[in-house]
Amino acid sequence: MLQGGLLGGRPYLLAGPAGSGKTTLALEFLCEGIRRGERSLLVTLEEPPNECRSNHHGFGPDLERVEVFDAIPDVMHYERVPFKDISMVREVLPFGRVPWLIRRTPELTGVEVTIAALEQILRTEVARCGYSRVVIDSLTALQYFCMKGIDEIDGARSFLRFLSDLKVTTFLTVESPADDIASAERMLARGEIRLFRWDRDRSTVRAIGIEKFRGSGHDIRLHPYRIGPTGLDIELALTISRRGTVRRRAEHTGLAGHDRARTGHGGGPSLSQ
Ligand SMILES: Nc1ncnc2c1ncn2[C@@H]1O[C@H](COP(=O)(O)OP(=O)(O)OP(=O)(O)O)[C@@H](O)[C@H]1O
Ligand SMILES: [Mg+2]
Repeated sequence: MLQGGLLGGRPYLLAGPAGSGKTTLALEFLCEGIRRGERSLLVTLEEPPNECRSNHHGFGPDLERVEVFDAIPDVMHYERVPFKDISMVREVLPFGRVPWLIRRTPELTGVEVTIAALEQILRTEVARCGYSRVVIDSLTALQYFCMKGIDEIDGARSFLRFLSDLKVTTFLTVESPADDIASAERMLARGEIRLFRWDRDRSTVRAIGIEKFRGSGHDIRLHPYRIGPTGLDIELALTISRRGTVRRRAEHTGLAGHDRARTGHGGGPSLSQ
């Protein structure tokens, strides 16, 4: 779908409604980096690392080598606490060292995660470890929890500029139930992959589309996919309308670069799951 693959060193949006597969696709991108001998970092603001490891264990040893930084604010702690640099109390570690059952919370008091602290950690860790792929899961949570007192559009704009300066290929997941998301993120991101989800009587239909991709040609059609243990199985031989109706066989199925859709379901329009 991305003819020529992603252009390295740029920030991209991965938008979609709840449960559409954003985290799964983001992890697939990070695991692909591991297979290519690169270092990959997940900054999680929603799914605790132990749950993420357990929910996505189908990625196997590649996921174990993806490094994770738990930036989830301690939302159970109601009392406002003084700002503390989260790098002092939390560390980046590979999924392989994340305990399966218990969330690792080394600090005794609640920690306010600020955008400034997170940027500082990213700058330090990218310089120290040479990550070439980073995922922020999610930008929505980052705006909600970490940009208190900052206009969320200005905050997103400044964070995207920061990521561009880091020169790392970054995916920012965005939860977007409606058809559209805030225009500032959209304008500033170098590309946007969008996931769609339609819930039918007894099934769910999902589709993926490239809404925008600066600097390269791309497939503008939506293709249905299923979520499997090792990522998204994109059915490139089929296209799907914006209302979720499978319409016709696509003539072109070219893929390259980071995008590794796996076909092989034998086609057919029954893509619900
Ligand atoms: N191994 C799997 N096999 C089949 N379906 C799966 C598998 N893993 C996840 N799913 C399905 O995919 C859904 C979405 O997964 P994922 O967490 O990637 O979505 P998301 O868009 O990040 O969701 P959220 O908005 O909650 O963060 C899950 O709710 C589950 O129904
Ligand atoms: Mg998710």
